[in-house]
Amino acid sequence: MKLIKVKNYDEMTAELLKLYVDQIRRKPDSVLSFTTGGTPRGVLEALAEEINDGLDISQCVFCNLDEYVGKKNGVYSVFHFMNTHLYDRIKQKPKEIHMMNAEAVDQKTELERYRRILEQHPRDIQLLGLGTNGHIGANEPGTPFDSSLFVAESCDSTIQATKELFDLRLEETPTWMFTMGFKEIMEADCVVLAASGTSKATAVKKILEGGITEEVPASYLKNHPNFIFIIDEDAASLLSE
Ligand code: PGA
Repeated sequence: MKLIKVKNYDEMTAELLKLYVDQIRRKPDSVLSFTTGGTPRGVLEALAEEINDGLDISQCVFCNLDEYVGKKNGVYSVFHFMNTHLYDRIKQKPKEIHMMNAEAVDQKTELERYRRILEQHPRDIQLLGLGTNGHIGANEPGTPFDSSLFVAESCDSTIQATKELFDLRLEETPTWMFTMGFKEIMEADCVVLAASGTSKATAVKKILEGGITEEVPASYLKNHPNFIFIIDEDAASLLSE
């Protein structure tokens, strides 16, 4: 594991941006899997600016970690988030863009469709945000480490975080998600977990000072040979040293 400590959210965003720009320059046909939420918003918008300033993504494939079960264009959806913070902003598009369909009626078929896409596109970088309870994607505490692309029920703390992030009423907040499992997350060449803010401090402490346990899903990333963990001062505030 490579631990990168930064001062704050803006420095975290700068680290993430550098990682992406270096990766795309080094390998123009990179496959990059993003996540959504407060954590990646800054880097997606910064990446859009780099692309508009000439970073060539024409051979890249972009995909996503997960998607809510709900309305495709709901304010909470991954589809809406990626369009708002990246795709609608860029003049030049990647070669391919893949996301899961929030409205898929036949979820099994949708999972199979996405599974085939992932098989065809091994990821160079998988970006992850950290749940306050230690989740990654919708792999909530207790999810077995052999999980593979599935539809997951969100924990109460996750539902609450989604509700607050998008300013939703409880009844309109999605409670299920399509998500990569640990299997697909760990398949990426490089896995990057980013955490900013005091709300992540407990989970960060458990990852860095505890063992690998299904109760703290992100702890499993310590088994990955190329795991980069970026934390800011607030997220690191409960660490012993
Ligand atoms: P956040 O969410 O980036 O909005 O903090 C992370 C997560 O819950 O996976």
